[in-house]
Amino acid sequence: MKVLVVGSGGREHSILSKLNESKTVKKLYCLPGNAGTGEIAENIVIHDMNIDKLIDFVKSNGIDLTVIGPEQPLIDGYADRFIEEGLNVFGPESKAAMIEGSKAFSKDLMKKYNIPTARYQNFTDYDKAKDYLSKQSIPIVIKVSGLAAGKGAVVCFTEEEAHLTLKGMMVDKEFGDAGNEVVIEEFLTGEEASIFAVSDGNYYKVLPSAQDHKAIFDGDKGPNTGGMGSYSPAPIINDSLLKEIENNIIAPSFEAMKKENRTYKGVLFIGLMITPEGPKVIEYNCRFGDPETQVILPKFDGDLAELLMKVARSEFTKNEILPMKSDHYLCLVLASGGYPGSYAKGHIIEGLDNIEEGSSVIHAGTKRDHENIVTSGGRVLGIVSQGSTLKESKDRSYKMAEQIDFRDKYYRYDIGDKGIKRYSTI
Ligand code: AMP
Ligand code: GLY
Repeated sequence: MKVLVVGSGGREHSILSKLNESKTVKKLYCLPGNAGTGEIAENIVIHDMNIDKLIDFVKSNGIDLTVIGPEQPLIDGYADRFIEEGLNVFGPESKAAMIEGSKAFSKDLMKKYNIPTARYQNFTDYDKAKDYLSKQSIPIVIKVSGLAAGKGAVVCFTEEEAHLTLKGMMVDKEFGDAGNEVVIEEFLTGEEASIFAVSDGNYYKVLPSAQDHKAIFDGDKGPNTGGMGSYSPAPIINDSLLKEIENNIIAPSFEAMKKENRTYKGVLFIGLMITPEGPKVIEYNCRFGDPETQVILPKFDGDLAELLMKVARSEFTKNEILPMKSDHYLCLVLASGGYPGSYAKGHIIEGLDNIEEGSSVIHAGTKRDHENIVTSGGRVLGIVSQGSTLKESKDRSYKMAEQIDFRDKYYRYDIGDKGIKRYSTI
């Protein structure tokens, strides 16, 4: 089959790398892609991109399956159009993607269906929000309801910061219309983990757990980024906790969406806080996570194209089995110095030809510039390594990180350490 992946980051390169192993795949396309996707797929450019042009491209090239990587096109209804046109698409319809598109919606959904999450209140009126905020204790979390590229959630540690944040979101419109509605919620303590489940609308299957590292500096310090590294599995989610998460969170989430007439098809990403009172949902995303995908997909020991096609066509059976390897995978992100603030682009990347056994390099912000591959984004590369232990996968990625170079390269030194520590105490 011919498969098109929409997107341009590490997540998309990772999906394409797995699709490239599939015997059923004859040709891969990526829209618009990066230097890495261009090595295994045909990167395509659609000028003044819109959904009509995309549908035309898919039809005229006989593409059998389209995988939509990022959230924005899903929320904008791209999958809806594919379905209307009778085309196979992996990704939820707009009304289901709302689970990420509106935090106010997802919080109300969780409340209605008793899915554990932080206590909260939604507001569209600034004065009412301000009044409520004055009565809350610190720390407190304030989030814009709409999409904000991962930057719309602020944990406030002083009252002054909380009021400034609220004003910034609702009055000064620092996040544009995304801040028309805000969620003010209780601060949760614990360790975070990510869990993904794929659903064909009838049945769901849970994928291996993962842990992301959102902050820019070691020790989870500094501002949040798109994610500085990840590993899978995440030992904090042991078998009994996974059962609890499945019973109290995953199954009820899909059930709730069905009851709301928003049947969820695609991958549902659930960001969790493992609190002393048990797992609680921090957020839902309507797509694969980045950089979690880079460590989850290598664990899958089956044909990804077939799996995604089954989801698109609602062909899961009740006892669908997703075979998984027992290996550990770790992804270390090499970023441009300055990220998540401003950073330079266009630096030549060296050392990409000497990839060691057990490792692979997933491209995120890269592009081809004549014979060179240069940096073109904040997160530049993800070095993904396999190991029979988490420590082994970490060591392999860090060794590779020294061999690949570009000006102002930056990475965290503690990716995986929380998991390694936990294994040492099990
Ligand atoms: P979100 O965009 O909702 O995923 O939030 C981004 C990050 O903010 C999360 O990964 C957490 O680190 C933090 N965060 C969000 N909500 C809470 C909460 N209620 N309590 C503590 N930290 C939170
Ligand atoms: N890893 C976080 C995200 O994809 O939103």
